[in-house]
Amino acid sequence: MNRPITKEDPYKLCFVCLGNICRSPTAEGIFQHLVNERGLQSYFYVDSSGTSAYHIGEPANSKSQWVANQQGVQLHSKARRFDSADLEEFDLILAMDSENYRNISSLDKNGTYSDKIKMMREFDPQPDDRDVPDPYYGGMDGFQNVFDVLKRSCDELLNRLEPLIEKSS
Ligand code: 4NP
Repeated sequence: MNRPITKEDPYKLCFVCLGNICRSPTAEGIFQHLVNERGLQSYFYVDSSGTSAYHIGEPANSKSQWVANQQGVQLHSKARRFDSADLEEFDLILAMDSENYRNISSLDKNGTYSDKIKMMREFDPQPDDRDVPDPYYGGMDGFQNVFDVLKRSCDELLNRLEPLIEKSS
């Protein structure tokens, strides 16, 4: 994940969950929000996708949107399925849970891209679990927890990437 980041060669991140309607759109929205707050829009390209085809074309879940909007974060995703071309395309692929991680890695038959596939909670300063829990079948508190976990993790991830930026004069 460590390479110089320039305007000519922006750093590309893809957040990945199962449905691409709850966790990964929230991560995408938060990370883009932090990038905007820090004035770093020229240096990052942020996307999300899902390992399943269940919700292709759908916007983010209404509960995910509600929780995010309360914190001033907008979710603009349209669900799509992660595919093997994304392994080449992105600099960093962030799996929300270990099942997502296995499904992404299964597309990387020779392990060529294993260095760029990471668990999102590797970046959580308070990692009480390895996974970002799936909130889909639960109540609002689960969606709020997902937002809080992802906010902490995205902050830390951007803290680690920002020093790699090479600003030209
Ligand atoms: P996500 O949540 O992976 O965070 O988008 C889910 C969305 C849909 C389903 C499961 C999880 N589903 O089974 O349809």
